[in-house]
Amino acid sequence: MEIVQEIEKQKQYIEKVKKIHQNKKLKYYILTMGCQLNENDSEKLCGMIEEMGYEPTDNYQEADLVIFNTCCVRENAEDRLFGKLGELKKVKEKRGTIIAIGGCMMQEKHITDKIHESYPYTDIIFGTHTLQNFPEDLYKTLESKKKLQDVIDIDGEVYEGLPIKRMNNIKASVTIMYGCNNFCTYCIVPYVRGRERSRHPKDILEEIQELAKEGYKEVTLLGQNVNSYLRSEQWKEKGIDYHGINSFATLLRAVNEIEEIERIRFISPHPKDFTDDVIDAIANCEKVCKLIHLPLQSGSSNVLKTMNRKYTKEQYLNLVDKMKAKIPNLTLSTDIIVGFAGETEEDFEDTLDVVKKVCFEQVYMFIYSRRVGTPGDKMPNQVPEEIKHERFDRLKQLVESQIAENNQKYVGTIQKILVKGPSKNNPALLTGRTDSNKVVVFEGNKDVINKMVNLKIVSEHMWYLKGEEVKE
Ligand code: 5AD
Ligand code: SF4
Repeated sequence: MEIVQEIEKQKQYIEKVKKIHQNKKLKYYILTMGCQLNENDSEKLCGMIEEMGYEPTDNYQEADLVIFNTCCVRENAEDRLFGKLGELKKVKEKRGTIIAIGGCMMQEKHITDKIHESYPYTDIIFGTHTLQNFPEDLYKTLESKKKLQDVIDIDGEVYEGLPIKRMNNIKASVTIMYGCNNFCTYCIVPYVRGRERSRHPKDILEEIQELAKEGYKEVTLLGQNVNSYLRSEQWKEKGIDYHGINSFATLLRAVNEIEEIERIRFISPHPKDFTDDVIDAIANCEKVCKLIHLPLQSGSSNVLKTMNRKYTKEQYLNLVDKMKAKIPNLTLSTDIIVGFAGETEEDFEDTLDVVKKVCFEQVYMFIYSRRVGTPGDKMPNQVPEEIKHERFDRLKQLVESQIAENNQKYVGTIQKILVKGPSKNNPALLTGRTDSNKVVVFEGNKDVINKMVNLKIVSEHMWYLKGEEVKE
């Protein structure tokens, strides 16, 4: 079926569900696990669910519909899901709540088997390629009262035009590509999200132009490997060139031209695809934040090889040097996995060495988690848990000492902040983030909320900075 017809069909199901509920006030509860791509999927789910007449609630005990949008990148998300499902049994018995589970974990057979076996009261299981069918799945479940599983293994199409409910009113995420072709040996993503599929530049630009009109100031372009945007098979043959957009670099330049948008971020690029045109685009586009997330994963060339990352320690460091030379005021953040199969003490020290040399603004640290179906899981020489934890703690110590040192550099500088609103911890203060994603709190008038202001940083505290407004 054509994509446009498919979307039309789902819109009809939205109307059908509304009819079943008539004007009853129903509530839904959604729990999103994992990355920003999943959060963006949840925004699409919420868009459809709210069109079907449901209102959000933070309390699953009073929900008529509960949705878990799952992640399977690391094991702890599984424990969390099963814990939550256990808690829901009583609620289901009492209220007849519809329970729907979707997302990456549902693409794994051993997980769906476990749900059927141990949590048979689950109503709907849907995968990553069938999210757009949610109105149809829900309608069929409500109509037939039967359990339903809607998971496919083939790569889903790129659907446009679904309703969406954004979680934030100044910052928005825009998915530019789906899936991943890299097959890093520790990672489950290519198996559950399928091959790379890029959205058409026209659809992306129209979405961002619409966001700009609605008052959004910051966009984050999302994808598993954003700098291979438009390089996937799907477009290569067609040789797409939409008003000069034919790559990630040219997309960045086009978004930079959208007047009302003041800040552009993107996650995640892959170091192996960080071509010069992207570096030049970041340097030339004043709205692109000079904080770049550049996943390292390991600082050891041996481990990088077994991880199938396709770069060495030296190539990573050279890339960082080149980027720092071309992009003034560049700061970097990264992802690091500790304790991958075969990682020796020497390998781990290479990771510490890279961290010392690059001095990242932020490091997202993960303990290696074996994922069923990935090559990493089958590798010999798995690192014992206690060694993984011990290394993790050493890395954490180093990172925290660097953050404290880095924070010092901010004191006395002027930083541009996009003001989010009152601080959660102290509502008398306002809060926002710098270009480099640091939280800053300051005393200010509420009329600067949703605007960019210049702040002079007056003090630093481990996880936030304090600023004072600079009047022009
Ligand atoms: N174990 C631990 N961390 C992982 N990541 C991906 N797969 C695993 C795994 N099996 C981390 C990587 C990636 C981030 C999103 O999650 O660092 O960049
Ligand atoms: Fe996973 Fe590697 Fe693809 Fe990132 S690039 S999603 S880590 S396989």
